[in-house]
Amino acid sequence: MSRFKRVLVVLGSVAAVFLAAVGGVFAWQWTGAEVSTVGQVSFRNALKVPPLAPSTVEKDGTRVFSLRMQAGTTEFQPGLRTPPWGFNGSYLGPTLRARRGEKVRVQVENTLPEASSVHWHGMHLPATMDGGPHQEVAPGATWTPYWKIDQPAATLWYHPHPHGKTETHVQRGLAGMFLVDAAKSDALKLPKRYGVDDLPVAVQDVSFDGADFDHGRSLLGSTGFLGERTMVNGTLDPYRVVGDELVRLRLLNASTARIYDFGFADDREFALVATDGGLLEKPDAMRRVQLSPGERAEVVVRMRAGERTVLRSFPQDYKDAWHQRFGGGDDSFDVLELRARKVLRKSPQLPSVLGVLEVPQGAEAVQGRYFGLRMTGINGRKMDMGRVDETVTRGSVETWTVRNEDGMPHNFHVHDVQFRVLEIDGRPPTGMLRDAKDTVFVPGGSTVKLAMRFEGPADPDTPYMYHCHLLYHEDFGMMGQFVVVEKGQRAGTVTGGAHAGH
Ligand code: C2O
Ligand code: CU
Ligand code: CU
Repeated sequence: MSRFKRVLVVLGSVAAVFLAAVGGVFAWQWTGAEVSTVGQVSFRNALKVPPLAPSTVEKDGTRVFSLRMQAGTTEFQPGLRTPPWGFNGSYLGPTLRARRGEKVRVQVENTLPEASSVHWHGMHLPATMDGGPHQEVAPGATWTPYWKIDQPAATLWYHPHPHGKTETHVQRGLAGMFLVDAAKSDALKLPKRYGVDDLPVAVQDVSFDGADFDHGRSLLGSTGFLGERTMVNGTLDPYRVVGDELVRLRLLNASTARIYDFGFADDREFALVATDGGLLEKPDAMRRVQLSPGERAEVVVRMRAGERTVLRSFPQDYKDAWHQRFGGGDDSFDVLELRARKVLRKSPQLPSVLGVLEVPQGAEAVQGRYFGLRMTGINGRKMDMGRVDETVTRGSVETWTVRNEDGMPHNFHVHDVQFRVLEIDGRPPTGMLRDAKDTVFVPGGSTVKLAMRFEGPADPDTPYMYHCHLLYHEDFGMMGQFVVVEKGQRAGTVTGGAHAGH
């Protein structure tokens, strides 16, 4: 062999070894990326139900709550103490509950070693009370937002929203539910005894490294953290004994990146009764409800005496093999086992009429806008706290067209409003997407057209956010800001990074 040939052979084998190594790593990543807990969950822990937050009512009718953000330890796994964060406790937070028409005030005390904030996801309220990155609460400070609740009964939630750190703060355990009640919903014969036949079900995915959370991201996925098992209300392997024929589950996807497609292991039908923004017009029978991070769905399931059934998350079709595998689409989880007592209390039939959608039809829209979603930014721009991206006029209806431009799983959340999905890929929406939403899944290549009314109040100097609720993406810069102004008014100057509280 000539010297040249020998060099070629050596180079060739080096390349072959290299390719084999890369191929091996890829194959290992590919097979390792699929996660399933189906059939493997012991269901040995009774489901924890977050307590209802105590409140006091002042002379003028204001209902006052206190939330203290604190560090603590929790025994998720037997004998192992994990050091998470929580509100008024060591993990997650109490359920706040108030009525439409009521004035509320929340004393938010931050005893953590770093600045954070508390955002009221799904709530219609002034921008200064919203709890986004412009209302950060310094360590040791107290922030006291107040507003009047004026929206239909719904399952909302609260979580931190500090600039660039939302993912880690939510992962450490800061989240809770905020239930809004209203006279109309009180009159309905729906299961509504909290913790009895009306259960909060906040689902999060987790991984542990010994006692500690492991929040590492996979090598090939760009979705963000995807855990290898699920918890409900901070309970691993949860079961719940139920004593009523009809059980209402308030499902909240409180995960930071994972998308779930919920249903039951035996494929039974259930009734969807509410989405992000509140009650549907009438119950909708279905077998699956897909929730991306931040979304909620209230479902009512019928139980037979003595039986057991499992709330499961099924594999999903992301129409893209890569993201399907590395973005969690192939994954499945056994989430919560429901165990019916031998004798069940009778439940009244579900009402055939539930609520009235208070989201606009879209025909009255005076302005359309476009939002191109890429992980690297919305409409090609990364989040900048000092820049107002959109200025909307108080009282007006707009249509927002949102397109997934890079094929990764994304969703889209708008603060302060609920919206109606007018179209998905040019067609009228089906299932859950026909109802009031504040967060919507936008799969790769898809376009959604939304209609919403901005009811202010006008504040040209304080923005609300819109963003992808996959929190790794949000923190990466997939977020923008809008202000609500009076007709003819201009956006003011917004500044970055100021701390609220005192
Ligand atoms: Cu659930 Cu901008 O947040
Ligand atoms: Cu929000
Ligand atoms: Cu995203």
